[in-house]
Amino acid sequence: MKINKEASLKKFNTFNVSETANFIYEVEEISELKGILSNSKGKILILGGGSNILFTKRFEGTIINLKNKGIKVISENKDSILVEVAAGENWNDFVIWAVENNYGGIENLSLIPGNVGAAPIQNIGAYGVELKDIFYSCSGIELDSLEEFEMKKSDCKFSYRNSIFKNELKDKVVITSIKLNLTKDNHHFNIDYKDLKENLSNSELSLKVISDEVIKIRQSKLPDHKSVGNCGSFFKNPIVNQSKLKKIKAVYPNLPSFKIDSNNYKIPAAWLIEKSGFKERGNKNVGVYENQPLVIINRGSASGKDILDFANDIKETIFNNFNIQLEEEVLII
Ligand code: EPU
Repeated sequence: MKINKEASLKKFNTFNVSETANFIYEVEEISELKGILSNSKGKILILGGGSNILFTKRFEGTIINLKNKGIKVISENKDSILVEVAAGENWNDFVIWAVENNYGGIENLSLIPGNVGAAPIQNIGAYGVELKDIFYSCSGIELDSLEEFEMKKSDCKFSYRNSIFKNELKDKVVITSIKLNLTKDNHHFNIDYKDLKENLSNSELSLKVISDEVIKIRQSKLPDHKSVGNCGSFFKNPIVNQSKLKKIKAVYPNLPSFKIDSNNYKIPAAWLIEKSGFKERGNKNVGVYENQPLVIINRGSASGKDILDFANDIKETIFNNFNIQLEEEVLII
């Protein structure tokens, strides 16, 4: 375990902002975690890879950065495996492990930044797959009682970029590992997402081919946080009902929309942001990424507050232009 006092959070968040915290514990063993939890006074924040969080001020409290490791096959039959992965594993390292071992189900989720323990919190998703599609359960510790628990998929209330961990259980638990069902029969691939379908229509499909294509698409659209601070999509794509969609389309006939059920449509927030002129509206510290304006970028020396002010400007403008209230995907602290 490593303890950092009065430490900078810069290397703990992919927006690369330099706020501070009273304590940051880097914890490799779950046995140490309970000790820290029982001795910490005040606020506690559990931090994974820091790839979906914006620190806008000093954090008065204890930050726990879980770094426990391990990938273990719990059971298997001829078609599938149940695998347990420690929360502190890097998500993409785990995807690489699965693809190399020919286990299917997460290849579309290649190159998503962050740690495994954070994946259920916002039900990570990309290119037509969400974590909930392969999720079996997660284990963790309740922060108050220090009791250990295991929660099955049906208890986690997963929906688009959402789960019980962002709502009823927010700041109440730490997830220490997750269990996923992966396939061994690799003849069923999900390439329904437009970009994937177009680029792979003439290829012989395999987990590796799909994973490589997803990586290629992501690298062309999303900045690498090591060179340009960002947290991926800053907002969720808004969902509107049919009558609202009709009203907006009357003014903006080119508005793209994707039907999600009989009455609701998802609208690309990137389109709303581009249409509102934000590709040209940044300043020397903050802006949107040129290839994907749903990604807010730190141009080098932005503070968390600079980024928040810019995000609020986007929200207000989209509301005024389209009567749509954007919701943050990123956790604001
Ligand atoms: N668009 C523009 N201008 C641009 C770029 C995109 O108008 O410069 C519009 C286009 O209409 C395009 C649409 O946005 O068709 C969708 O763009 P994209 O396919 O890049 O996907 P997205 O909806 O913006 C979502 C996820 C991403 C995920 C991709 C692929 C959310 C909030 N974001 O983005 O997730 O990688 O789909 O599945 O749902 C993340 O969560 O951090 C993330 C990157």
